[in-house]
Formats: sequence, structure tokens, C-alpha cells
Amino acid sequence: MSQKYVIGNWKLNPATVSDATALAQSLSSSPAQSLSSSPACVVGVVPSLVHLSAVKSALSDGIMLGVQDIAHKTADTGAFTGDVSACQVANIGAIFTLVGHSERRQYHGETDEILSAKIAHAFAHGLSVIYCIGETKDEYERGETFGVLKNQLAILQTFANQADADAAKLIIAYEPVWAIGTGLTPTFDEIETTHRFIKDELTAFGITAPILYGGSVNDKNAPEFAKSDVIDGALVGGASLKTDSFTAIIHAFSQSK
Ligand code: PGA
Repeated sequence: MSQKYVIGNWKLNPATVSDATALAQSLSSSPAQSLSSSPACVVGVVPSLVHLSAVKSALSDGIMLGVQDIAHKTADTGAFTGDVSACQVANIGAIFTLVGHSERRQYHGETDEILSAKIAHAFAHGLSVIYCIGETKDEYERGETFGVLKNQLAILQTFANQADADAAKLIIAYEPVWAIGTGLTPTFDEIETTHRFIKDELTAFGITAPILYGGSVNDKNAPEFAKSDVIDGALVGGASLKTDSFTAIIHAFSQSK
């Protein structure tokens, strides 16, 4: 059985530190906690930066802590008002960061240059990177998915010697923009075909990396996704905010053969 990953992206939720702590505690005391310490499925959560310390204190050791973003101007410290760096989040206990989530690309105009800098900074401080890619609805309808993904993947060539597959330093999350938070997903066959395409692109760069699917993953569709040999896990938004649904998704991927 290949290593699976289920990662909860809490985005800008919840509103209070006490709710974030309660969510972390509830997950830590749920069956997911014991599942996460099994080698079959690595579990991680990605809270808001402002809740990072509180969530770290409340989380059990088996659950990985990540961040949604890091500064691109520096890996360390400096005059960059409003930013939080790879160095700072690693110091608090984050072990990975998302890079290139579609909400960052869309609302913050993140370019390839910015995303490359973030990946370099993450690796410089020992953080793993979950690099998010995906096409918009229009691109999907025009049949441009592979071309879009190819362009988004191109920046990874530079990092081929740092993307240690065994250490999972680099993980890809394929998230069609039109599937995020909409309840829509590509078909199972489409996802598998796309994951195979991504795998081949990475192989051409000399990179082997787990490939997660994200976009409206829930407790109902996770068991089907978990059956695939080429879907190495899930990046989960909305359904990660309720312990019951997140635990069910973890369970599905832990059971997969
Ligand atoms: P969703 O979000 O599960 O709410 O669709 C996924 C994501 O944006 O990572």
C-alpha cells in the first residue's frame, strides 16, 4: 500500500482562537488521531497563521502542522510589513507549507517568480511544500487542462534535486479551481488521467512526488478516490472543519489498498 496523505486546509476559519483550539483538540481525541499514527495515512492540518501556536499546543503529536502561505521576499527576517516567513513558521513548529493555492494565485496575483521564491524559502528552512495546481472552469471547458498544469508545473524543474520523494519534501495537490468549495468534482476517470499526466511531467524533471486531489472532497466521495493507485491522498477544505467528516475521509484513505 502506498503512503497516503490527508491534509485539512482550514483557510480563513474559524473566527476565534478558542474555536481553532477546540477543533484541534477534537481531531486529536478522535479516532483520526490513532489512524494518523499508522503508516498508511499521514494526517495534517493547516490553520490560519494567527492560530498556529494555539493549534500546535492542542494537536496530538501524530498530526502534522502546516501553514497556508509564507513570505516570498525573504526566507528569514526584514522590512516586509504584514509578512510571515518560512523561518518564523518553522520556528513555531510548522513542518510544511502550501504554495500556490488557487485562492492565493487569484486574490494575490501570485506569479511563477513569487511561487518559486516561496518554494526555495520553504526548502531552505526544512519545510515540505504542498504545491497546488489546477485549471479554471473556462480552461477545463476549452480542454486546456493539461496545458495549464504543464505551465504551473514548469517551475518545479529547478527543485528536482531537493524534492526527495521518500521524505515527501514536495507534494503536489491537483485542485481544479472550479471544484473548490462548489460541490463539483471531475469524474474519477478524469482525475486519474490528470494525475497520470502530472506524474509523467514530474518524471520528465526527475521528480517523484505524491499527488493529492483537492476540490470538494467529502466523506461521501473520499472512499472512491481512495481506491485509486494514482490518488495519493486529499487536500480538504470545507470538510476538514468538522471532525466527523474529516475523520471519515482519513479513515477512507487509511483503509485503501
Ligand atoms: P474544498 O477546498 O474542499 O472546500 O473544496 C479545497 C481546497 O481549497 O484546498
